[in-house]
This record gives sequence, C-alpha cells and structure tokens, in this order.
Amino acid sequence: MTTNDQTTTTHDIELIPGDGIGPEVVDAALPFVRAVADDHGFGFDVTRRDWGTEYYLDHGEVMPEDGLSRLEDADSIFLGAVGHPEVPDHVTLHGLLLPIRKGFDQYVCKRPNVLFEGIESPLRGYAGGDIDFVVYRENTEGEYADIGGREHHGFDHETAVQSALFTRRGTERIVRAAFEAATEREGRLTSVTKSNAQAHSMVFWDDVVDEVSEEYPDVTVERLLVDAASMDLIRRPHEFDVLVASNLFGDVLTDIGAQITGSMGLAPSGNVHPGDEYPSMFEPVHGSAPDIVGDGVANPLATVLSWSMLFEDLGESAAADALWDAVADQLADESAPRTPDLGGDAGTEAVIEDLRSRL
Ligand code: NAD
Ligand code: IPM
Ligand code: MN
Repeated sequence: MTTNDQTTTTHDIELIPGDGIGPEVVDAALPFVRAVADDHGFGFDVTRRDWGTEYYLDHGEVMPEDGLSRLEDADSIFLGAVGHPEVPDHVTLHGLLLPIRKGFDQYVCKRPNVLFEGIESPLRGYAGGDIDFVVYRENTEGEYADIGGREHHGFDHETAVQSALFTRRGTERIVRAAFEAATEREGRLTSVTKSNAQAHSMVFWDDVVDEVSEEYPDVTVERLLVDAASMDLIRRPHEFDVLVASNLFGDVLTDIGAQITGSMGLAPSGNVHPGDEYPSMFEPVHGSAPDIVGDGVANPLATVLSWSMLFEDLGESAAADALWDAVADQLADESAPRTPDLGGDAGTEAVIEDLRSRL
C-alpha cells in the first residue's frame, strides 16, 4: 500500500485471471471495480500474472518456481479460475491455487451464500432474503493435506493412500473464526462433521468445538453429520447462520450453497489469512467452466462480489458495499440483463455495462 501527497491510498493487487472463463469474468469486471474505487477515493495497482494452464503448456509449470515470493508483498490477490480439460486437474490445481492457499496460510475460506431479492431459488417457496448463511471452511489441511502416495503401479495390488491431517492449531483457529463470525451475525453456529464414521479426526473436531464453545456462551451450537447437513441445506436452508467444516466438506457444501441461492455464477469466496504476514486471496467459488468458455455468457457477478469481499478485507468498506449493492440492485430489477445461468440471454459484458449504469 502506498500513499501519495494528497493522501490517496493505492493498494497493490496481484491478479491471476487463470483459465477458461477466469479471464472472461476477471477482465469484464475490472474496469467496473476500478470505477468504484475511484468513486471512493482510492486506487489500486494491478500486477497481472498470466499463470495457469497455457503457462504450464509453455513452461512446464503452472506458475514460476518463485511465484509465491512474487505475490508475497501484495496487499491482496484476485484469482479467476484454474483448470483445463487438456491437463489433469491435480496438476494445475496443485501447481497454483492450492499452493497459494497453503503457502500464505489462508486458513479461513469464507463463503457467503445469499439468496438475493429477484433470484429464484430452485427450492420451492424461497424468495429473496430467505437464505443467508456463511460457510467457514478450513483451508490449509484436513482432507487436502498432501500426505500419501501410490505404490505398485499397474499391479493388481496397486495401492493409493491419502491421509487427512487435523491439527489442534489448525482446527481451533478455524472453529474460533467461525464462532467470532457467529457472534457478529445471528449467534448460531453449525459444525459439520462425520464423527459417526470417522472416529479419530472428526471426533477430535467435535472435541475442539466443545472446548472453544465455552468461550462463546452466547452462541448456539448445532452439530450435523455432513450427509444430514447436505439434506438440510435443501430442506431448511433458512435456519443456517454460520457453518464451519473441514476443507473437503466445506468445498462440497458450498457448491450446494451456490446452487440453492441461484447459481455458481453468483457465489463469492475469500481465502483469508487473518494476520499481516501474507496477502489474502479472493476468487469466485466456481471453476473455469469449460462448457461455456468463449461464448461470452459467463456470469461475472460472483467475481464482482468477490471483489467486494476483497475491498472489505482491505478496509474499504464503503466501496465494498457499493459493489455488493450494485449487484443486489441489478438482481432485484426484473428488466436488467441476466446471463443464461440466471435464465436470461445477456452476455458477460452487458451485465457489467448495466452495473456501471447503477453507480
Ligand atoms: P465449474 O464451476 O467450472 O462449472 C460447473 C457448472 O457451473 C458448469 O455448468 C458451468 O458452466 C457453470 N458455471 C460456473 N461458473 C459459471 C459462471 N460464472 N457463469 C455461468 N455458469 C457458470 O466446475 P467444474 O465443471 O466441475 O470444473 C471445471 C474446471 O474448473 C475443472 O478443471 C476444475 O478442477 C476447475 N475448478 C477450479 C476452481 C477454482 O479455480 N477455484 C473451482 C472449481 C473447479
Ligand atoms: C473450490 C475448488 C477447489 C477446491 C479445487 C479446484 C481444488 O473446488 O475452490 O471450491 O476444492 O478447493
Ligand atoms: Mn469447490
């Protein structure tokens, strides 16, 4: 962050558009986001990194070896999406997205799920405002720990081992972050596990929730098994406030959350490192959507909402609200352009044009 003579703040943002629709939504949203920053008296310098699958096909790595150190001094990072049908996903994702989340200790994956006014949920009887919860997903360990291997390739006795890692520090800090969030929201926390089957890691998680809950007597704690939680997100999503879950469970639950609130194209996300040591990273929940890439119809609103979360994290709350409110205003307007995922026939650019007119 720099401040000039007129005390205008300039934030340093690293931008990784990535693959597929990533560059489409990132490039469409950027001028609009910049205009909102201008309106609110701050600027941001963008360093664009063309890392991802094309970079991999040219260089044999998804980002340069010193990629993390190039990003490290940024105030924040924005990522579009990563993944391409021609390269195995575990190669691209382990070469870019996952190393950033882990390497910058972005242990809080915060994913709001809001049914906006004007959006039709696939769930019968739900209208705008009826669904509003946030998932706190553990983002650095759990089932995503890189522990395991494959042995005896090609033999009948070929073996694969993938171990999950649950540390006290890692579990406590995400659970505590979720309790804090509940304190600032409706005071209800749902911890999602699978302690009936996974008697080590998930029972440990339950124990940690019990312990931390003593620090938050005003928060009501509910425990759900992940299968029942998946069911209840469909059956009674209006009752949830804050959910906390392991890396994999949080991943799965947030795709359900995106769909019941209208579309993958509307779901924003933050990979937050709560301290000052590393930058956080913001990105839509969705992936590179190879099925619609190049059609110009990707919904850019998850990207705009993720920028809103980024601005909020930088302390630019008024600009964050302006972005969020412009999206809410557009969605509430029946005559506004919509992309096909929301039942319309408009393109990415038309949606952004309309947003600009709402400032
Ligand atoms: P996806 O999220 O890319 O797509 C799922 C469905 O949602 C598709 O039908 C797609 O067209 C639709 N969709 C997604 N975003 C949309 C948008 N903005 N507007 C309109 N429709 C949208 O998930 P997938 O198909 O399972 O994965 C595709 C690739 O993306 C894979 O390589 C996967 O590994 C990767 N991926 C990356 C991320 C990430 O970078 N954070 C997240 C999820 C998946
Ligand atoms: C997400 C994605 C990633 C995840 C994949 C692409 C590794 O699905 O951000 O939700 O599982 O975290
Ligand atoms: Mn996911």
